[in-house]
Amino acid sequence: MPNSPAYNSLWQVRTDAWSSLEESAAQLVLAGSQNHQVESLAETIRGLLDVLGPIERFWAFPGTQSFQKARRLFTEGKYDRFATLVSGINRALATDSFRTSPATNLDADADAFDRVIKPMEQVRKARPYFEVLIVEDMTEQQELALVEEMRQWRRPDDPFTYEIVVLHSLEDALMAARLNFRLQACVVRRRFTHRSRYDSSSLHQFADMIVADDLMEHSPDERAQILARALARIRPELDLYLMTEIAVEDIAGRLSHHFRRIFHTREGSLELHLSILDGVSARYRAPFFSALRSYSQRPTGVFHALPISHGKSIVESHWIRDMVDFYGLDIFLAETSATCGGLDSLLEPTGPLREAQQLAAETFGSRQTYFVTNGTSTANKIVVQALVQPGDIVLVDRNCHQSHHYGLMLAGAMVTYLEAYPLNHYSMYGAVPLKEIKGQLLALRRAGKLDRVKMLLLTNCTFDGVVYDVRRVMEECLAIKPDLIFLWDEAWFAFARFHPIYRPRTAMRAARTLIDQLRQPVYRAEYAKFAEEVGPVDAADDETLLNRRLIPDPARTRVRVYSTQSTHKTLTSLRQGSMIHITDQDFSQKVEETFHEAYMTHTSTSPNYQILASLDLGRRQAALEGFELVQKQVENAMRLRDAVDHHPLLSKYMRCLMTRDVIPVEYRESGIDQPLRSGLPNMIKAWESDEFVLDPSRVTIYIGATGIEGDAFKRSHLMDRYGVQINKTSRNTVLFMTTIGTTRSSVAYLIEVLVDIARDLEARLADLSPTERAAHERAVLRLTAPSAPLPDFSGFHPSFRDANGQPDAATPEGDVRRAFYLSYNDSYCEYLKPEEVEQRVENGEQVVSTTYVTPYPPGYPVLVPGQVFSPEILAFMRSLDTPEIHGYRPDLGYRVYADKALEITATARQASPPGGNPASPSDQKPPPARRPRG
Ligand SMILES: Cc1ncc(COP(=O)(O)O)c(C=O)c1O
Repeated sequence: MPNSPAYNSLWQVRTDAWSSLEESAAQLVLAGSQNHQVESLAETIRGLLDVLGPIERFWAFPGTQSFQKARRLFTEGKYDRFATLVSGINRALATDSFRTSPATNLDADADAFDRVIKPMEQVRKARPYFEVLIVEDMTEQQELALVEEMRQWRRPDDPFTYEIVVLHSLEDALMAARLNFRLQACVVRRRFTHRSRYDSSSLHQFADMIVADDLMEHSPDERAQILARALARIRPELDLYLMTEIAVEDIAGRLSHHFRRIFHTREGSLELHLSILDGVSARYRAPFFSALRSYSQRPTGVFHALPISHGKSIVESHWIRDMVDFYGLDIFLAETSATCGGLDSLLEPTGPLREAQQLAAETFGSRQTYFVTNGTSTANKIVVQALVQPGDIVLVDRNCHQSHHYGLMLAGAMVTYLEAYPLNHYSMYGAVPLKEIKGQLLALRRAGKLDRVKMLLLTNCTFDGVVYDVRRVMEECLAIKPDLIFLWDEAWFAFARFHPIYRPRTAMRAARTLIDQLRQPVYRAEYAKFAEEVGPVDAADDETLLNRRLIPDPARTRVRVYSTQSTHKTLTSLRQGSMIHITDQDFSQKVEETFHEAYMTHTSTSPNYQILASLDLGRRQAALEGFELVQKQVENAMRLRDAVDHHPLLSKYMRCLMTRDVIPVEYRESGIDQPLRSGLPNMIKAWESDEFVLDPSRVTIYIGATGIEGDAFKRSHLMDRYGVQINKTSRNTVLFMTTIGTTRSSVAYLIEVLVDIARDLEARLADLSPTERAAHERAVLRLTAPSAPLPDFSGFHPSFRDANGQPDAATPEGDVRRAFYLSYNDSYCEYLKPEEVEQRVENGEQVVSTTYVTPYPPGYPVLVPGQVFSPEILAFMRSLDTPEIHGYRPDLGYRVYADKALEITATARQASPPGGNPASPSDQKPPPARRPRG
């Protein structure tokens, strides 16, 4: 059996089993006739062959025949030949050499393998390799003949090479799609069975797709359709082909949306071979990268304002030649601008860039995708400006990224802050409960403002890895407000599309599911039943709507969903590469033009083409190996978690936060404390049902017991001593993110570093004097005791609230833009030291911030322009020992509004509508005396 469990992929188990097999086989040969050793080695080998047995049939290399041959040699006691064969296979797997040679005639002959094993350089330069699954119930002879037939079509100038895996049943096919990440295409033939003929019980956790039990009662076409749908749910990127013997024209009419092509069996396999290559070529194409590369190879005379183009200002320089030495020449050869060289324009793409964005839309499952070169910070501002007009109400998580705060301020939105649940023990926030969102929507409905609510803006997943049930949030909100627009900030979640369990919780997949669902007659029937129970939603009472699950009215709902992703954070792209994905049923009628204007507002007229090309390539990689890389990422994260939590020394000082630490039980319907650690089926269950789940690839380690504060741990220990970079800490935690770039070696290095830190700490503690020990214990106590509670949003000052013509504002939204710009007049502002603010608050006065005040960490604004100070905020600020507080000047204190400004703005508001231009200070009367807190 494998030493450690497989969490979501068998990749590490398989790799480790082949390596151990090679080692044990070599020892077996050396052991010769020493019986007791032979027996124990043989036992180990039998165990390893049993681990590999059920897996190998899903992979083309080494293939079932070669694996059986190895097993036979072992059973027959031909240990020399067995060891040679196993060693050859393992070396071919470890060096990736199998990608360069057809997996035929594997022999227990060392010379043969020496010819197969290629130097790394040669493997890297070889044509890309992939595997194709053929699903048909056939004999071994037929299988070999089919494989040979497909191989005969290979040509030296084919862009790729592939091998074939033949499986007989639907169950095997789904398992293969889940396990074999090298598959790029699947050919479904008419005759396949439902259940596997092999014992796959050890793999059942990976067959996470439930398919109807009565499969064999369906017609062959229906079976093909069921299989195609199930495969697409696991791997939407796979090219699916159908081969059939009957009425191909008729079937094509009915099933073509499931399959890329449908072939008649008798037409032979050449067309199929060409289509397979063509399908992968379509994803491999990187039109913008290719155009940029061709441009870079052309000699040009540049009289454009671009001296660096073709390296011209560098290669002749006497002083900056090291720039070329370091970066290489190609990057400068590719430096260009839209107006030179026939490349496309980012602001008005019509050629390769447009095509690159269309390919990205296909890969990420959106209707439109736009590339952005200044990060998701800019992407967020573009989307908000495109959709929100001054005075529109936007509901937003207060802990969202600063780009939203600035974007909403610029747009003149009336902002309603939503409260995420706090995790005081770790000084961080979770996510916004659905009840809080519905509660705010219903309050706005009561105040007669629902028609002004434009958008809900949430971060999925949060920095710390809390993931929403995206579809449910949208369903329930749309039930209350059928035209609500959603902006999901997926800065940290671009990779999620490529894992079957994560995918349903992404904005684009949820939007697509919602659109499909609303069209289904069964859904309409379900809604009719719901409407009968609840009555017209517009008339239903708040209590009912708050406490039951709501579903949207298919006749009124418009699905309007936007997501912004920092491709550079979780997939491959140069820094700042970001994408906006859109699935908005009203985009072309209502948004396209304002979107274009917003895009122009925020985009440079000299965008960096290298970033755009890297987005194009990042998309290609995600489309072809995203599934593999994300599987490995999650597996690496789980190994990191295990290594920390099971290490005797590390576990004394550190522990990985798990789902139950970060997500209170009331948000976990499944009741599962550690979804993936307790087995993949549990992860599936939790991810299907829970209001929030935790992304296991974000590993937050609790370090309270070290007595070292998070920021100091990051700077003095991880970065300065070991060069380990991380980007988030809290008072007593450090967050380690695993990405598609994380390797097993980097996980091992991190463990080494953590063990080193723990050892140092242990040694230091042993030498402490009693006074030092007492100081250390105090530090531990401070870090392990709950901190001052994270403060709720205290509210906008009435001058910035939206009273909707009534004397008192019933809902809390505020005009951040007005509050922000009023402070441009210095005479309206003053600085107050924290003690002075405290004194005034204690006296019952309202003290109002002119600006965002953001301590880092935790990195969210504790105060926004126009917000009143509260005793809770002051207590929280007092408890912080972070040196970095944006918007606060240690020499002067907080910048707050002088009373006269508040009085003036209150008067001005009566004369101008919400979200209108800020009051012009010059024509206002002087303010009356300070107003007590009301
Ligand atoms: C939730 C969230 N959104 C947006 C951004 C900004 O992304 P970018 O760095 O791509 O500008 C960040 C950055 O950390 C973030 O955490």
